[in-house]
Amino acid sequence: MKAEQRKDLINLLRKVIYELTGNYYPEERMKILEYKVERLIKDLNLNVSSPEEIVSYFRASPEREKTLIDLMTVPETRFFREKEQLDILFEEVIKDISTLSIASVGCSTGQEPYTLAMIMEKKGISGKIIGMDINVKVLEEARKGVYKSEEIKDIPPDYRDFVYLKDSVMCIKDKIKKRVDFYQANLIRKEDFMPFSGNFGIVFCRNVLIYFDSDSKRIALENLALIMKKKGILVLSSTEILSRELQILFETFKKGKFFFYRKRKNL
Ligand SMILES: C[S@@+](CC[C@H](N)C(=O)[O-])C[C@H]1O[C@@H](n2cnc3c(N)ncnc32)[C@H](O)[C@@H]1O
Repeated sequence: MKAEQRKDLINLLRKVIYELTGNYYPEERMKILEYKVERLIKDLNLNVSSPEEIVSYFRASPEREKTLIDLMTVPETRFFREKEQLDILFEEVIKDISTLSIASVGCSTGQEPYTLAMIMEKKGISGKIIGMDINVKVLEEARKGVYKSEEIKDIPPDYRDFVYLKDSVMCIKDKIKKRVDFYQANLIRKEDFMPFSGNFGIVFCRNVLIYFDSDSKRIALENLALIMKKKGILVLSSTEILSRELQILFETFKKGKFFFYRKRKNL
């Protein structure tokens, strides 16, 4: 494919990915997109000549769209990510709570929801966690609860009882796995969130909306507010700040050095 056609292809796929997932590739991340598209075409051994043909190929069925989504989303995660923020949440924001329902939206391969399950188990808090993600492949991995043995280093020593090492992998123990369910949901599709309307006291959505533009971010935040209980708390990554216009959905408060977001009373 000629350089010009390649450029057209990348631009067309950028649009398709945005429509399907809300993830927007800005100019500075276009190189990553190019690399991923090249890999995908090679892996699928696609014998097509024009950019339009490639795009039609992917749009031909939900299964093919899924292939595109699975490759284009960024799955990076780890256990006890931003532990200090988690400590402040559980020790200062919601202290003395005995039961809790949490959603971890954009949960990737499950490290975040399992971390939350471990914390709840250790603190004697009852309730379940639902991990949601658009990417079917990462959800399959999450359900297994099996990780590289090196990941044990991310788990603080006093939580290592919740996992065990077997051969060269690290497995999550059943009592933690039982507390977590996984569900496929697309942040920009209200239909996916309707069944959970008003369900969760806390919703995590960390390191997900950084890949969205302002329109898709607003839709996603409306869906997150929808699944939250009255006065529920939204947790974003500490590097993400809600813009002013989105504060009609949430009021911001600060604990320690972290910002949290409470669903507004009138919603
Ligand atoms: C960088 S990971 C963040 C994982 C975890 N929350 C953390 O902070 O470690 C981003 C995840 O968001 C998911 N994601 C991206 N777009 C999404 C969408 N429209 N709906 C639901 N999940 C989405 C990706 O598939 C990916 O697994």
